[in-house]
Amino acid sequence: CGIIGYSGSSANAVEVLLEGLEKVEYRGYDSAGIAFVTDTGIQIEKKEGKLENLKNHMKNFEVLSYTGIGHTRWATHGVPTDRNAHPHYSENKDVALIHNGIIENYAEIKKELLEQGVKFSSDTDTEVVAQLFSKLYDGDLYSTLKKVLKRIRGTYAFAIIHKDFPDKMICCRNHSPLIVGLGEHQNFIASDVSAILKYTRDIIYLEDGDVALVSKDNVIVYDKNEKEVKREVKKVEWNFEQASKGGYAHFMIKEIEEQPEIIEKTLNIYVDKEKNVKFDEQLEGINFHDIDRIYVVACGTAYYAGLQGQYFMKKLLGIDVFTDIASEFRYNDPVITDKTLAIFVSQSGETIDTLMSMKYAKEKGAKTLAISNVLGSTITREADNVIYTLAGPEISVASTKAYSSQVLVMYLLSLYMGAKLGKLEEKDYLKYISDISLLKENIVKLINEKEKIHEIAKKIKNVKNGFYLGRGIDEKVAREGSLKMKEINYIHTEALPAGELKHGSIALIEKGVLVVAISTNLEMDEKVVSNIKEVKARGAYVVGVCKEGSLVPEVVDDVIQVKDSEELLTPVLAVVGLQFLAYYTSLEKGFDVDKPRNLAKSVTVE
Ligand code: G6P
Repeated sequence: CGIIGYSGSSANAVEVLLEGLEKVEYRGYDSAGIAFVTDTGIQIEKKEGKLENLKNHMKNFEVLSYTGIGHTRWATHGVPTDRNAHPHYSENKDVALIHNGIIENYAEIKKELLEQGVKFSSDTDTEVVAQLFSKLYDGDLYSTLKKVLKRIRGTYAFAIIHKDFPDKMICCRNHSPLIVGLGEHQNFIASDVSAILKYTRDIIYLEDGDVALVSKDNVIVYDKNEKEVKREVKKVEWNFEQASKGGYAHFMIKEIEEQPEIIEKTLNIYVDKEKNVKFDEQLEGINFHDIDRIYVVACGTAYYAGLQGQYFMKKLLGIDVFTDIASEFRYNDPVITDKTLAIFVSQSGETIDTLMSMKYAKEKGAKTLAISNVLGSTITREADNVIYTLAGPEISVASTKAYSSQVLVMYLLSLYMGAKLGKLEEKDYLKYISDISLLKENIVKLINEKEKIHEIAKKIKNVKNGFYLGRGIDEKVAREGSLKMKEINYIHTEALPAGELKHGSIALIEKGVLVVAISTNLEMDEKVVSNIKEVKARGAYVVGVCKEGSLVPEVVDDVIQVKDSEELLTPVLAVVGLQFLAYYTSLEKGFDVDKPRNLAKSVTVE
């Protein structure tokens, strides 16, 4: 979910809140709401559905307010309705608050409050906290919040306003991201920087257990031991332009097309003139000779990027690498010792499943390395070591450029490790490095031919079911391609190893079923061609994704042809082709490409 809070010297709090919410709407869009202090008390306005509904509703009001909070919601407790939208408030509306996370013991507190006669107006866990705050209120925001926090259990970022303090907000965090932005006679609270980039780049990243009292000229932070602390103010490098569409119809296509630029930037920053990968600082303290086991753990697209990373490490280093889904990692009894390196891949750096896996690995003694796109995010602060991906802000919920930048960082990491462990011949190493530039050029070529993919999208847009097939690393490509199609088109697709289809799922193949067959490794091309024939014979409509020299074009209905970026990186190119395919299909279906239903950009609940 997205959070913004504003306290300033001009009376335009509502405008700032609505503008900020627009920037964080990608974090959740089941409902949106704001609460602000006016002369007569706290006013709360909220609407089910996209932010647009709230904005239209706000046209009915002329408000002067200096302080307020706003929220866009990704529903957890309670269906997405006006009533369950944040902010939530106490019965007498003296306090309003917004919350990201989950209050685990809300039922028990709610029962208690109900017994005391408190009337609830929503089904959410969050309202319990607003009511509790009001009950425990002692005239001081900080001391009341401390009492509240002692009663509740769970994960949270809260932003709270109270009618007695028309110029103040109080906020706190525990496992959910929250930052404070510092401006000129105005200060902000937000779940992430994009909400407030227009106003400031000076950011305080709150730590777990921190409470901050924020007014227009003052920010006081208390740590978990209730001590007043000075937290470092960091300058964010992203600019507002990067976080806007810049002439593109959607963020997703803008972000797909940014990929060559990001590859270039990654090379410039992480590889020096002598072609050495410059990860010494990032990987300080890790002696790769001492590592005997590597885990790569992540969710969603980051997990699929992790599978590519695993492939690189196995192939280049001959090390056994295990990849796992973050929400499963702890339950799979991973074998962890102090010789284990556990790598956590997360665009946002806030995904709670990934964070919890990291904590688990750390407790068991592993060295932890975060690969993340967001400076100062929770996962990067908890990890022993961090390598940042250089994708810039990714706004579209369906991840594209974050994926390729994660894959690239893991590729460079594998080369770095290969050099450190003496596992790569110099000429091979140099070739692997130069393949990165080739990949960049080939993505540019694919972008130039994107309209061909658009034509294919027009033909497949009405399919109901699909299979994405591949062998070896292409099976991992298939998984990411299938995820993209599902996420923004609501078409049921499934990724399978091409050779496995015949062992059951082929029963589902009939006329009208889509099969996307990927073949970027000519060694397996003939086998993939046979698998394509099996589904063609049963009526499937087949789109092939292959490189030059493949026999796939001869047997499929349509083809996305990619240039050869060499065995290790051509799969990335294939993924870019599948990103376009999903994008154009969604465009043709007329869906909200950047904000697919039921999803959120970063999920901070388990
Ligand atoms: C959410 C997003 C996915 C993303 C996953 C992991 O489910 O919708 O697109 O891949 O989280 O996010 P992370 O920020 O940890 O990479």
